[in-house]
Amino acid sequence: MDIRFQCNGPAQWKADIMVVLFCKGERLPDVAPCVDAAAPWLAIAPALRDARGDKDELTMLHGHPELNIPRVLAVGLGAREDVDVSAVRKALGSALRRCRAAGIGSVLIPEPMLAALPGGRERLVEEAVYASLLGLYRFSGLKKADKDERKDPEWLAIGFEGEFVPDGGQAAARRGERAAEAVALARTLANTPANLLGPADLAEKARALAAERGLSCTVMEEDDLREQGMHCLLAVGQGSARPPRLVVLEHAPEGHEQEKPLILVGKGITFDSGGISLKPGANMHAMKCDMTGAAIVLSVLAAAAEEQLPRRIVGIMACADNMPDGRATRPGDVVVAASGDSVEIQNTDAEGRLALCDALAYAQKEWTPAAIVDIATLTGACAVALGSEVAGLFCDDDALRERLQASATLGGEALWPLPLWKGYKENLKSEVADICHIGPREGGAIHAALFLQHFIQDGVRWAHLDIAGVDWASKPGPLTVIGGTAFGARTLLELARGGV
Ligand code: BES
Ligand code: ZN
Ligand code: ZN
Repeated sequence: MDIRFQCNGPAQWKADIMVVLFCKGERLPDVAPCVDAAAPWLAIAPALRDARGDKDELTMLHGHPELNIPRVLAVGLGAREDVDVSAVRKALGSALRRCRAAGIGSVLIPEPMLAALPGGRERLVEEAVYASLLGLYRFSGLKKADKDERKDPEWLAIGFEGEFVPDGGQAAARRGERAAEAVALARTLANTPANLLGPADLAEKARALAAERGLSCTVMEEDDLREQGMHCLLAVGQGSARPPRLVVLEHAPEGHEQEKPLILVGKGITFDSGGISLKPGANMHAMKCDMTGAAIVLSVLAAAAEEQLPRRIVGIMACADNMPDGRATRPGDVVVAASGDSVEIQNTDAEGRLALCDALAYAQKEWTPAAIVDIATLTGACAVALGSEVAGLFCDDDALRERLQASATLGGEALWPLPLWKGYKENLKSEVADICHIGPREGGAIHAALFLQHFIQDGVRWAHLDIAGVDWASKPGPLTVIGGTAFGARTLLELARGGV
């Protein structure tokens, strides 16, 4: 769906439908003067009586088909005192989906109506575009063309009052569009079945997108990984016919080439069967999303390049396929990580931290980071602790933690701090190696985070995001369909936009 702008006020606006948000108890045409002016027929529309402004209420109102604005979709927000940016996002996601279901070709959202809602004028333009696009997201392409399936509206216009589109409004809409594009790309990669997306395929996608956007991209293959001593990542992939890859992306705009980079590291397990420590069968298919962290890193780097963000950002995708096989890693095996530490692998289903530890060690060998943030579908324990709406945040650097939480809030995501509890470090002691990669089940998310922290040198600012539990939606929501959510993509894009 194209994003457009219309100006010169409501009398000039023209679209198949206008979306109007309003609160409980408000009279629809009075929400903003522009609503009445764009669709004067609204005041006498019979269906107006049905529109009460309750939360999740959608009412379609029809005027004469030849009018500039022949239809209005009235979207209830509930009580005004409870309305926030997140409510606006959800309302617009549902609204656009309803427009698609009705086969509508063009949609207009009046900017003066957004301006009357809490959240700030430009913010709401950005979020309106973001939510409209994400509401329409679906994973298609692997199904036969369905004749009943409706097309997305051709365009969405933001309607402005003045003679020109204000620069701020235009920029805000573009930001919303790029954020939605980043999330959609990460979702599509996550939703792509593992047979169609192995480590080399994911690396190839990264290479192609990097070339298109002007990012530098290096793909390290097995020999390169061996040369770098990344035996943990290699161990994860050795049971698969599809060998691991480490992808390094860099956005270094002119004048920022020498600056310390923000480094984003993503877990890219293209399928997590558990390996020899095989997972139970139920819902194993969702483990095609175990590369969501890496997909997010790619989409954020691509967005950073497109937006020409004025800072240096490095993205590392640690990609491997975790499969059982005669050559697969066994529980009890010991391998040496890129840091030089020997690691005892007690459970081959805890593969994510193995892939990541080599990537983290490599990041600190190659660069002096301004900060490192890793993102991973790392532990079932985190999903148990926090559920499906909030991701785990491990970070001992107050400023970085606050920046991450603020970035999440901006984009409608949420991160909750969990402790890097020092006392549990001894649970990672191994009888045979420098470190064991798992601890007891209790506090599982913390043990995983402490294992990663072992590979972070003193003084390096680092945060770990555990998105297991939020990366997969098992029921549809206003901004998500069943499947990969790419939770965290928007947060990291906002972090990249704002800097650390
Ligand atoms: N990819 C899984 C974690 C996961 C679980 C992601 C549920 C999304 C939803 C990870 O590799 C894993 O299997 N972790 C194990 C670690 C354990 C063996 C120490 C887990 O959480 O059970
Ligand atoms: Zn696993
Ligand atoms: Zn995994």
